[in-house]
Amino acid sequence: MNPEIQMGKNPIDDHACLKIFLNGELCPLSEAWIPLQDYGYLYGMGVFETMRFYPGAGIFALDAHLERLRQGARTLGIAIPYAVTDLKMAIAEVLEANHLTGTSAIKIILSAGPGPLRPDPTHCDTPTMVIMATPYTPPQQGFQTITRPSPHTCDSILAGVKNLNYLAYLLARQQAKQKGADEVLFVDHGGCLCEGSTTNLFFMKGNTLHTPCECLPLLDGITRQYVLQIAESEGIPTTEGCHSVTDLLMADEAFLTNSLIELVPILSVDQTPLATGPIVERLMECYHTRVRSDANL
Ligand SMILES: Cc1ncc(COP(=O)(O)O)c(C=O)c1O
Repeated sequence: MNPEIQMGKNPIDDHACLKIFLNGELCPLSEAWIPLQDYGYLYGMGVFETMRFYPGAGIFALDAHLERLRQGARTLGIAIPYAVTDLKMAIAEVLEANHLTGTSAIKIILSAGPGPLRPDPTHCDTPTMVIMATPYTPPQQGFQTITRPSPHTCDSILAGVKNLNYLAYLLARQQAKQKGADEVLFVDHGGCLCEGSTTNLFFMKGNTLHTPCECLPLLDGITRQYVLQIAESEGIPTTEGCHSVTDLLMADEAFLTNSLIELVPILSVDQTPLATGPIVERLMECYHTRVRSDANL
């Protein structure tokens, strides 16, 4: 099940009473109003971040998420209308306004703002900023996956930007769901595994932790970076490279990462079961230690 959409059973009903931040004001989600001419709506022009709030530890890797938002916005030519300190205060206000003290998912969405109906973003000069937060329940213990061709190539700038245009990912997820799977693994035209639709991929083979390299079309996830650091500090050799589906099927264990689900084992690929092993749990424990030690409350 999509860990981001899973934030509520029926997102509209469950979240109508939520308070959100919209362009500097807190307002109920049910009353939030964004012009139809917003280029986020018309053309998917915008960036977003999804982060996890941990009770007692705060939002993990908040600075890294805000930095990725800034970089993505710059790539799309959107100016973020708030300083980092203001954004942090706004996030805290949203959590407080919704009485969110348990595990929560926070989403920041920055779109280019309203512009002309014909596609000309040079006239979009008032970006729209939204911050939402909802209680978050982590997903089940493992994911069934299917493979699909990657919608991107290496030279696609969009692969590395967490942008609002998720259509190709959504369609792939829909296909996964129809096949009873939870996530998609994208494979590029050369047969190399890239990433999931909202996740990065890792697998253990022998004593080494493998992950697709950044030369492939993928989002360099913040969790991915932490897992690489943690593995190295645990003395587990890591390597970034090009790996086939066959490499993955022969792995000793494999898992997916993102900021909400953390680390989740892969149970199968295209209905072929995958081996499970102890490394994901060990890395998960270290990840939780890191979350606590980086507490920013
Ligand atoms: C396409 C894609 N890859 C990877 C990730 C994982 O990124 P992160 O670890 O920063 O959450 C995401 C997150 O949503 C994503 O959308």
